[in-house]
Amino acid sequence: VIAPVRIALIGAGRIGHVHLRSILSHPETCELAVVVDPYQPAIDDIRESFGVDQTSTDLAAVFDDPTIEGVVIAASTETHASSIMEAARSGKAAFCEKPIALDLEATDTALAAVAAAGTMLQIGFQRRFDTGYARAKADIVEGRLGNIEMVRDAMRDPAPPPPTYLAKSGGLFRDMTIHNFDCVRWLKGDDPVEVFAMASALTGDEIRDIGDVDTSVITMKFPDGSLASIENSRRSGFGYDVRTEVFGSEGAMLIGESRQTSVRWLDGKGVHEDHRYFFIERFAPAYEKELLSFVSNIRSGNQPVVTGADGRAAMVLAVAAEESLKRRQPVNPVDVASFAHTEAAHAQS
Ligand SMILES: NC(=O)c1ccc[n+]([C@@H]2O[C@H](COP(=O)([O-])OP(=O)(O)OC[C@H]3O[C@@H](n4cnc5c(N)ncnc54)[C@H](O)[C@@H]3O)[C@@H](O)[C@H]2O)c1
Repeated sequence: VIAPVRIALIGAGRIGHVHLRSILSHPETCELAVVVDPYQPAIDDIRESFGVDQTSTDLAAVFDDPTIEGVVIAASTETHASSIMEAARSGKAAFCEKPIALDLEATDTALAAVAAAGTMLQIGFQRRFDTGYARAKADIVEGRLGNIEMVRDAMRDPAPPPPTYLAKSGGLFRDMTIHNFDCVRWLKGDDPVEVFAMASALTGDEIRDIGDVDTSVITMKFPDGSLASIENSRRSGFGYDVRTEVFGSEGAMLIGESRQTSVRWLDGKGVHEDHRYFFIERFAPAYEKELLSFVSNIRSGNQPVVTGADGRAAMVLAVAAEESLKRRQPVNPVDVASFAHTEAAHAQS
């Protein structure tokens, strides 16, 4: 009998709850070692909601415990890089939520520590584990769409996150569009050579006041001339919205089922379906699959499906989009090192 993998969870906020549920749901493959969060109310909430008593407010409970094999980093973004490095130094595999860090410099420092230690790092781009997206990718690789000439990717959140989150998020492109950058480069199987961003702050003063944007359109061009567009909004009146269209020389594919139940109601007011209102519901199975994949990679020694290099490549595109927005012209992400400010503009505000 193979013993379950001992996992620690760092960060007990919104997404920490999602990952904790996955860990606790699979006692045959993984075992919760400890949940760490310096914020006592978050710990109290976890103890009450999940009935777990392996909790701590001190990160030493993770990194000083040699029996812990894997670390799930779901804390606020500005803490990711240091936890990744601590995990590498203590020889533990790490699953880290997006983005790896708030800027490219910290991303590279964290990835260098992982490379030096030879440990495993998986990044939380959960779309790759979604049934629809995974199927689309498989079909693209098989050539069912011919050459991919256009990808259209849209994501909208029901409402902006709280101001405390926004101020430390790194801004729309690094925090939110990063999912779309990963998705588009993964589906296309290549990196763009041109990125052009337009964006506004339309949802109210809060986001404009911290110098961020909440509504954007980004267009991209790939080396073979194919194109992509990404649309984002921090607010959507009907709830979470994620839709992707892949258009190839021999066909197209639409990804983005949002119904909770496969039922359609017809009445005097029209035709109605239910809708998964938030990303937590929409991607629930994908979040569970990515976590199980991480645990199984720890046992098998296999490479993760989403690597640190993928996390970095998406961050490069986010920085390029910011530079394009500033210059009001397209930029080539290859030139990222020459962009004046690759640090996150809103990180410290
Ligand atoms: N993949 C996704 O779809 C997805 C969705 C939501 C959030 N995220 C990412 O997950 C991270 C957390 O987001 P959230 O929405 O859960 O935020 P949140 O604000 O709800 O929770 C963050 C938690 O981290 C804790 N924390 C802060 N510093 C810490 C430290 N040093 N060690 C341990 N815990 C610490 C905070 O006390 C808080 O409880 C962010 O990086 C975000 O980008 C990813």
